[in-house]
Amino acid sequence: MNRATRPLKIVILGAGYVGLTSSACLAEIGHQVVCCDIDPAKIEALRNAVVPIYEPGLSELIAKQIAAGRISFSTSPQSEVGSADAVFIAVGTPSDANGAIDLSYVHAAARSIASDLRPGTVVVIKSTVVAGTASQVSAIIAAERGNSDISVASNPEFLREGSAIADFLQADRVVIGVEDGAAQALLEALYQPLVDAGIPLVVTRTANAELIKYAANAFLALKIGFINDVANLCEKLGGDVGEVAHGIGLDHRIGTAFLQAGPGFGGSCFPKDTQAFAHLGAQHGAAQPLIETLIANNDARKDMLAERIIANTPAGGHIAVLGTAFKANTDDVREAAALSIIPRLVAAGFSVHVHDCQPAYAMRQLEGVKWHETPIAAVHGADAVAVLTDWDLYKAINPRLLGSFMRGNALFDFRNIFDPAQASLAGLDYHGIGRPFLPAQKALRGAGRNSSALGLAASAA
Ligand code: UGA
Repeated sequence: MNRATRPLKIVILGAGYVGLTSSACLAEIGHQVVCCDIDPAKIEALRNAVVPIYEPGLSELIAKQIAAGRISFSTSPQSEVGSADAVFIAVGTPSDANGAIDLSYVHAAARSIASDLRPGTVVVIKSTVVAGTASQVSAIIAAERGNSDISVASNPEFLREGSAIADFLQADRVVIGVEDGAAQALLEALYQPLVDAGIPLVVTRTANAELIKYAANAFLALKIGFINDVANLCEKLGGDVGEVAHGIGLDHRIGTAFLQAGPGFGGSCFPKDTQAFAHLGAQHGAAQPLIETLIANNDARKDMLAERIIANTPAGGHIAVLGTAFKANTDDVREAAALSIIPRLVAAGFSVHVHDCQPAYAMRQLEGVKWHETPIAAVHGADAVAVLTDWDLYKAINPRLLGSFMRGNALFDFRNIFDPAQASLAGLDYHGIGRPFLPAQKALRGAGRNSSALGLAASAA
């Protein structure tokens, strides 16, 4: 990666997932970054490259940039912004009770630094915000300063949890929304190393940049919702949704990405952003019925899958749940299928045994379950196993081994990580997503029930 020929001083407000990833990556492309947060304990930990979230490679990249002297951490942005070329706002934008987003942290962050900025500084909104926020923030800063000498720009992020660093440094595109030439020139200089690496730069007005972020997430969520509906039909007609997705995805106008059927989308972004998008449409008389239906279907899907487990497991039995994170390579359980499905299983009187590869976050959210250190320990004696997250560790489990530790034989593979025929041959009743139900071939059941298998399981886990 080329480094910036003109390193800029950048102050980032907010050391959450977006603020930290952006700080580390902007330092990596050669800029001088000060990442700020109001939480002194978090800032102290970050000075030692201790990152409060699980994001592969982030702690290592921060340690590298600390050693290179390109990143520092502060609780006092006011003493840093006076010498900054750009100040990024990367604070949270939670949903309110109606699904609209709460911009109070964005407004407060802008107000907190407004009077300390030097004229000509560009304030860049990185947080996910509704169209019109940049102009509101511009008005807030101008009112605080009694002067309109600060440009406000929009620069939405398209980072996925679990692959955020690659999504930043090898982005499909960088979008900058600007209202004046000075902000455009500064952001072009800032992202020059990425443009030199061949990444397209989209330069547009701030309202368009803000809409691009929401429309992108809404469209990706629609792809997932659509393929989940196709999966329902495949189950009824004996089709295989993976093959259908492949067949339609090779049409370049459709594309193969984001056509993986599963237990419904979760995470901190799609559920929140689709809500905000629908709310925005209703508020402005441009209803978004596709998105409204998508949201309702996605919620209903999690309930429907919980019912599928309940209906096919002996009453009061032992259910092993593999995976609580909303997807692999993250510890995040916000809006995860597990948070809808597991409480329903507990309420229905099952004994629920859970494993996740990064369970710390989930352990604080789920009540009435027993946690296990290995997947096989959770599965031991189970009547049913439900896979809710596609961690590589689970993909490596041999279905015969899995079956050998179970008391019953129901496998709910809601991430389609197992081969149905192999699972059936291993003696498991296979319930996948968008695949026909395949009953166990009983004769081969239980072949692996012995202590050497136990050793294998321990090392596999
Ligand atoms: C999402 C977007 O992909 C990012 O581009 C965006 O920047 C981010 O939101 C954000 O707004 O900050 P993320 O929430 O990290 O990223 O996760 P995704 O990888 O998009 O997955 C979201 C959910 O959809 C997960 O529950 C995942 O399991 C599910 N999914 C994804 C499917 O069910 N099928 C798929 O084919 C893809």
